[in-house]
Amino acid sequence: MNDRNTTSMIAPDTTRAGELRQPPHQVRRAKADDCAAIAEIYNQAIRARHSTMDTQPTSAGRYLDLLHALTLREVLVVATPAGRNDQLCGWGIVKRYSDRPGYHVACETSVYVHERHQGQGFGTAIQAELLRQARALGYRHVVAKILAINTESIAFHRRFGFEDAGLQRRIGLIDGVWHDVAIMQYLIEPDAGD
Ligand SMILES: CC(C)(COP(=O)(O)OP(=O)(O)OC[C@H]1O[C@@H](n2cnc3c(N)ncnc32)[C@H](O)[C@@H]1OP(=O)(O)O)[C@@H](O)C(=O)NCCC(=O)NCCS
Repeated sequence: MNDRNTTSMIAPDTTRAGELRQPPHQVRRAKADDCAAIAEIYNQAIRARHSTMDTQPTSAGRYLDLLHALTLREVLVVATPAGRNDQLCGWGIVKRYSDRPGYHVACETSVYVHERHQGQGFGTAIQAELLRQARALGYRHVVAKILAINTESIAFHRRFGFEDAGLQRRIGLIDGVWHDVAIMQYLIEPDAGD
């Protein structure tokens, strides 16, 4: 089963032999102290009106509550540059898709990276860890719901092997603008021996 203190180190990205383009990223479980930075990153997404149906600013308290309410099959992770445990650059979550027993094989994931740190590999490091955690937690189907206008995130998920499952047309209305939502799915094949 899952180790609740898992930390992952993603290999450094090199452009030429020996040249470090960026430091390796560290992905670890979120702690109470991280909640203010998690909320700040999510508030950027809310303000951008591009990647969430939330419209009102959120607070650290919301994430503290979420952290405490996580079940054993859910995980909130954060990414920092290696050796900079306090510089939170992004976060992600694996949560149950539904509490109905038949859906126990399905989870939902989300990833948010600080605006200043997008395009630096943090999203990739977080998503890789979320998919690793989803497998370890026994899920076989991962769902990502993405605003259709967020073509960057759709491309990002495709890169990991997420497939288009469908499009929910005009399911959201923000500031007078109708939104479609793309449903993407990633099927986890069991390992030999599972
Ligand atoms: C989408 C997001 C999570 C990607 O994380 P990131 O750290 O910026 O992405 P990475 O640096 O790991 O890039 C990985 C790949 O994602 C894709 N990608 C990332 N940003 C992109 C952009 N602006 N346009 C197009 N593709 C993009 C690329 O395929 C990239 O591959 P490359 O390195 O070969 O170019 C991040 O940009 C983000 O938080 N965006 C705002 C919030 C959001 O949309 N979250 C998803 C909600 S569903």
